[in-house]
Amino acid sequence: MTDMTDKSRVLIFDTTLRDGEQSPGATMTHSEKLEIAEMLDVMGVDIIEAGFPIASEGDFAAVSEIAKRADRAVICGLARAKAGDIERAWEAVKHAGRPRIHTFIGTSPSHRAITGMTMDEMADSIHDTVSLARNLCDNVQWSPMDATRTEDDYLCRVVEIAIKAGATTINIPDTVGYTAPAESGDIIKMLLERVPGADEIIFATHCHNDLGMATANALAAVDAGARQIECTINGLGERAGNTALEEVVMAIKVRNDIMPYHTDIDTKKIMAISRRVATVSGFPVQYNKAIVGKNAFAHESGIHQDGMLKNAETFEIMRPEDIGLSETSLVMGKHSGRAALRAKLENLGFSLADNQLKDVFVRFKELADRKKEIFDDDLVALMNTSSGRPLEGELKLESLRVVCGTEGPQTAEMVLSIGGERHEVTATGDGPVDATFNAIKKVFPHGARLQLYQVHAVTEGTDAQATVSVRMEEEGKIVTGQSADTDTVVASAKAYINALNNLVVRREKTAPA
Ligand code: KIV
Ligand code: ZN
Repeated sequence: MTDMTDKSRVLIFDTTLRDGEQSPGATMTHSEKLEIAEMLDVMGVDIIEAGFPIASEGDFAAVSEIAKRADRAVICGLARAKAGDIERAWEAVKHAGRPRIHTFIGTSPSHRAITGMTMDEMADSIHDTVSLARNLCDNVQWSPMDATRTEDDYLCRVVEIAIKAGATTINIPDTVGYTAPAESGDIIKMLLERVPGADEIIFATHCHNDLGMATANALAAVDAGARQIECTINGLGERAGNTALEEVVMAIKVRNDIMPYHTDIDTKKIMAISRRVATVSGFPVQYNKAIVGKNAFAHESGIHQDGMLKNAETFEIMRPEDIGLSETSLVMGKHSGRAALRAKLENLGFSLADNQLKDVFVRFKELADRKKEIFDDDLVALMNTSSGRPLEGELKLESLRVVCGTEGPQTAEMVLSIGGERHEVTATGDGPVDATFNAIKKVFPHGARLQLYQVHAVTEGTDAQATVSVRMEEEGKIVTGQSADTDTVVASAKAYINALNNLVVRREKTAPA
């Protein structure tokens, strides 16, 4: 149990699997959710919001399984202010050693108008739903959604009701990313001063990043007395996202002189989980993103490099090792052995069973034959490219040859297997990628629409691998696919096939009405 008599302790509540996954296109598979939850638990996250159990059978199954597997973190399930939601959330989280129900209702004037409730009716509903949650679970979090646009008096009134009904954590969401740091702090201060019983519970801050102030707003709330920060890895989340876990945690660590708080996060695990979340969500991290961006520790200008060589502290306020980036990312070439590969992958946050290592080693050797130097990022791309036998009915690229020229159209000759059956196909298109995608569509007709096609060079040089991400949508179902290869067109074909496979095998995800 966390010692909350320690007034400088800030709890980290991660909602990557709920608010993050809710972001259109960021859908994760069941096994990806379990994997991310385990990484969050191991890195020291205090509370994992594992999903919205009433939203779908898939969400319910993921929250239940995460609850069963969690080692140390509190496992939380979200519920609207409805008995059915709250009971369903409890059914899912009750398996956890430390379960929590999180229930919410929109309290601002526009949210009240949507529900059609008067202030008094909503106050009664808050009393009833928080009481119901508390009768099921002794750890209950309540959120007045859109708190930062709720009238002060009404906010104080409903927070008091929720505390009296048994809420142990009160979360103050800035649902539309509207607040600013001074105001974010003032709201917490006001609640602590005006609400009876406020000093008996924990205040949480939940900020969205629409105006780019989510991290500053969360830290201002902590300065005012909040002791739980709600955040996501890479700031994943609807619209401009949520407060980024890595930003608040590192800000507290680096500027502890002016923010004398501490979290339980093992910061050395930040980079590995950031990479994994970027892959499974299909949302790449922007190059200049604070803490986890590819350029966050790159010093390219002459003046910077000179200063860095003389004394790293000249330009570096934190060390790459602090977030789990190794000092040098140059790893190995084709003569490197299996033990070295295992050690390097462990260092990057991947622990592999012997049979997995065997498969990765074969692919590593293939890559090393094509590419002289293999960097950390190459290995991460290799790990994030699915391998192994396709599942029943799945598509697999057997071979691809594309004929290009200044005079179009381009032609793709492909062998594609579906559930093990080989199909040979030729198609043309407006460019090599278009021709390739047309070839796939010829063999496997589908109505999915390509929403996003993105190519990134993993490292420098003309022999660099390309990572390709695609996002596809069919009847409201959105999936992503990724692949990496030294040949951009092959990576594109594999990413597209990967997304189609996800569309075929993934469970339906339905939003709550
Ligand atoms: O942003 C928000 O208001 C939320 C609530 C459900 C807590 O995510
Ligand atoms: Zn939110």
